[in-house]
Amino acid sequence: MNKMIQSRKSMLASDLDGTLLGDPAALDQFAEWAAGNRDSLLLVYVTGRFFGSVVEAVRTSSLPDPDAVIAAVGTNIHKYPGGEILKEWHDQVCNHWNAHTVRQSLENQESLQLQEEEFQSEFKVSYYSENADSRKLEALLQRVKSAGVDAEIIYSSNHDLDFLPAGMNKGAAVAFLADRWRGPAGNIIASGDTGNDRSLFERGFHGIVVANAQPELKTIEAPNIYHARSPYARGVLEGIRYWREQK
Ligand code: GLC
Repeated sequence: MNKMIQSRKSMLASDLDGTLLGDPAALDQFAEWAAGNRDSLLLVYVTGRFFGSVVEAVRTSSLPDPDAVIAAVGTNIHKYPGGEILKEWHDQVCNHWNAHTVRQSLENQESLQLQEEEFQSEFKVSYYSENADSRKLEALLQRVKSAGVDAEIIYSSNHDLDFLPAGMNKGAAVAFLADRWRGPAGNIIASGDTGNDRSLFERGFHGIVVANAQPELKTIEAPNIYHARSPYARGVLEGIRYWREQK
C-alpha cells in the first residue's frame, strides 16, 4: 500500500455542491486550511456528480486536489487525478441489479421525470420528483423490487430521486475506501447538506451538517452529528474544529 496514504492520520470525506461549494470566499479559507494540513489529511470528495464534472469544479474553483473522488452518489470510486475506477467496489453489486430494468419498471410514472442522460449510468438511475412523501417513495421502490431488482432509493432536496444498487451509497463507499487504505480508521470526518449525504452519517463517522442543509438533514440528531452554525465551507471548517476539540 502507498506509504503516503498510510501516514496520513485523518480523512475528510466531503460532499461538494451546497457543502464545500456555494460560498467562494469560504472555500478559499477551506483551501488554505487544507494546504496547511495536507501531510496528515486524506481528502475525498463524495458527490452526486460524475468524475469529469468534479475535475472541472477543481479546475474552475479553489477546491484543493483530493486524494480520491467518490462520484455518482457513491457508485464509482476514482483515483485522482487519473480517474481510474476501483473495480473491486463494483464487485459488491449483486446480480439482482439492472439499470435498464429499473427504467422499464418506472416507465409511465407520472410523478417521475427522468434526469438528463448525462446523469445516468450503469449503476445510477436518476429522476426528478417533486415533494414525494415516504409512502410514494416506498411504493416506487416496491415497484422496482417487484421487477426483480435489488435497489436502494435516495431522495434529496425534495427533488432528486436516485435508484442505486442496494448497499451502494456514499457512506458505504467511504467505508470501503477507508478500509482499503487502512490509514484513517476511526478518524473520519464526513460533511454534507442533503439526503444523498445521509448514509455518510449512518456509518459512525464524525458528521458535519452545514447550516444551509436541507430539512431532511437539519432534523436528524445523533451523537456523531454536529450541526454547524455556519453554512457551506465555513460550516465544514467549524465542524472540523469541533471534532478535533472532542479528542
Ligand atoms: C447530483 C446528481 C443527480 C442526483 C443528485 C442527488 O445533483 O447530478 O443526478 O440525483 O446529485 O443525488
